[in-house]
Amino acid sequence: MTLNPDGGHYEQLFSKAAQRVAHQSSILVDLPNETPETISLAFGDADPHIFPAQQITASVAGLLAEDVDAVMNYAPADARLLAVVQQRLERRGVSVDPSQLMITYGSSQVLGLLPQIFVEPGDTIIVEGPTFLGAVEYFAAAGAHIETIPVGPQGMDIEALAACLLDLQHRNIRPKFIYTIPTFQNPTGTLMPAIARARLVALAAEFGVLVVEDDAYGDLHFKEHNSPSMLTLPGSEWVLHIGTFSKILAPGIRMAWAYGPPAVMKRLRAFKSESDCGTFVTRLVSYMAQDGWLDRHISSLRSHYAAKSTAMVAAIAEHFPKDVRTNVPEGGFFVYGYLPQDLPAVPLNDIAIAHGASFLPGTTGYANGQGTHEMRIAFSFQTTPNLVTGITRIGAAMRELRARNS
Ligand SMILES: Cc1ncc(COP(=O)(O)O)c(C=O)c1O
Repeated sequence: MTLNPDGGHYEQLFSKAAQRVAHQSSILVDLPNETPETISLAFGDADPHIFPAQQITASVAGLLAEDVDAVMNYAPADARLLAVVQQRLERRGVSVDPSQLMITYGSSQVLGLLPQIFVEPGDTIIVEGPTFLGAVEYFAAAGAHIETIPVGPQGMDIEALAACLLDLQHRNIRPKFIYTIPTFQNPTGTLMPAIARARLVALAAEFGVLVVEDDAYGDLHFKEHNSPSMLTLPGSEWVLHIGTFSKILAPGIRMAWAYGPPAVMKRLRAFKSESDCGTFVTRLVSYMAQDGWLDRHISSLRSHYAAKSTAMVAAIAEHFPKDVRTNVPEGGFFVYGYLPQDLPAVPLNDIAIAHGASFLPGTTGYANGQGTHEMRIAFSFQTTPNLVTGITRIGAAMRELRARNS
């Protein structure tokens, strides 16, 4: 036999997991038909206008002057960054054991490691529907069986979760973990109340299941709230908390953290092939956090994103038909919409793109094909005038689709 890579012979070399990934679509791609002129409200990129370029430049110069050898060589992650994260968690009432804290290259790295340490093909995991499909893709690639729990106005429906756990128990299935984004959820923007968080962690402890609390948007609240991190609740020994500097500094820095049970942290460390994260970047982030600068930056981000959210919500009230229901976010990056029967999201988005704007159809947030009449609209990336123009165009597309159908 002649082995010819183009004839598919490589396929036989790949692991089963790699073969599964090849057959999956990623949501991290451009939407079809979008052009450079499209005002894209589809993706939750950070606002480039408030990247702290000056502070980054000054910090790089400062830390190179401080000790170039130390930051450029092989060495553990900078201990000062661990201290920064520890302090931020402690301020939220978490009693931190530094040995349970780990710095990672983005929270995505932890989400990618999770199935490696927990999932054999066919194992069950539980996610919210809709959710951050980027995470679910990693779990699905490992061959996980995915149970979806609906998200209501107050986040994951905890009674549906309880019923699901009970049903699985009756079938002798112990799920590996529950993946939740309780604070300004991606994509719905919902905030899970304290009482629901307490019940969720109590359920996890009762059924012996890890809760993965993805707190990507936790710092970006537009007003104060009293929903605690799950790490502070009874049963927290069942919680793995993931946080990131992506939304509060810049995604390109790729710095995040995980804090959780010693046994889980031990496996995560063992599977994180780069060992510690780079000295240069970890020192850079700790340098920027000095003297309260990061806190001041986060507070300016909160008002910046709050103003954009308000502008988008106002534009929606003016330009969308009244039977399109949308949430009013109290933090994070997204407005989420529920569309009436005659406005399915995918054809609507095609027409919106022809009008010069786009959003993310709801199906991209479900592992089970639901969400045909839902839409995620990001206010994070575009300028405020573009947000308003984008919403105006999507509103026009809604009227056009409705006219075509009538
Ligand atoms: C809920 C959620 N988790 C994790 C991530 C990935 O973050 P990171 O840049 O830290 O990998 C995102 C990014 O959009 C997100 O929305």
